[in-house]
Amino acid sequence: MAQSLHVLVTGSAGRVGQAVVAELQTRGHVVRGFDRVPTPSLSDAIVGNATDANAVQRAMAGVHSLIHLAAVPDDVDTPRAVLEELFPANITGLYHVMEAARASGVKRVVLASSGQVNWWQQQHGPFPIHAEDPPSPKYWYAATKMFMESIGRGYAEMHGLSVIVARLGWCPRTRAQVEEIAAQSWAQDVYLSPRDAGRFFACAVEAELKTNFGIVYAASQFLHEQRFDLEPVKQLLGYEPHERWPQGIEIVLGR
Ligand SMILES: NC(=O)c1ccc[n+]([C@@H]2O[C@H](COP(=O)([O-])OP(=O)(O)OC[C@H]3O[C@@H](n4cnc5c(N)ncnc54)[C@H](O)[C@@H]3O)[C@@H](O)[C@H]2O)c1
Repeated sequence: MAQSLHVLVTGSAGRVGQAVVAELQTRGHVVRGFDRVPTPSLSDAIVGNATDANAVQRAMAGVHSLIHLAAVPDDVDTPRAVLEELFPANITGLYHVMEAARASGVKRVVLASSGQVNWWQQQHGPFPIHAEDPPSPKYWYAATKMFMESIGRGYAEMHGLSVIVARLGWCPRTRAQVEEIAAQSWAQDVYLSPRDAGRFFACAVEAELKTNFGIVYAASQFLHEQRFDLEPVKQLLGYEPHERWPQGIEIVLGR
């Protein structure tokens, strides 16, 4: 096993967060959660808002690696929700998390970005999409993730943090999303199973890196057509997906 690390997972109560917490615990890491709501099956879990600088600073104490998942995870329906929910969580929250990580001397930061930053290429090709391809963000949510990617690079260069940006495939949160993926072959090709998500983030904190910044795609195995280039994530972090659609949906459906 890799050395046991002290890892803070923000958004620990969410779909991806719970899978990440479970995998890190299985691998013997010391895990602290941080979320607006209580995190199941985690004794060291802080309930707080990422927009609260003091709460975030408290959560960061003694942490070696940070996995930042806390966010509004998709576009929202009204202009008011953009201004009062999406931007505070995804921009102000990010600011507090990055500042607290820098001030606490966190060594590795893993930021959850999204395949939506390259949405229009995802719809029309060419495939596979590489991290270096020009971004084509879907809308405001994807734009917040591009902002996050940019400032991640800034902290790596300005402060020497080791920052990995993870452009995640689609890990469904609800039965309705499972049905959406079942109905569309492209969605099956960008599917990310909860167990593969857990494995990916564990690899991202464990990997010894020669570079202090990287952007990678993370997904499960494709079924029909390879949409994301997964070779860089294998080379950089040693992550290879074990599953493909529909493996793992029983976790989402609660079976
Ligand atoms: N699931 C996917 O398909 C997918 C794809 C690409 C990127 N992502 C990203 O991965 C991360 C996790 O997504 P998810 O699917 O697990 O979403 P989720 O909604 O299940 O989990 C997000 C968690 O963050 C918490 N949270 C939100 N705002 C917060 C705040 N201001 N302070 C504290 N906690 C807050 C929520 O309570 C929730 O538990 C997000 O950053 C999302 O944008 C997810």
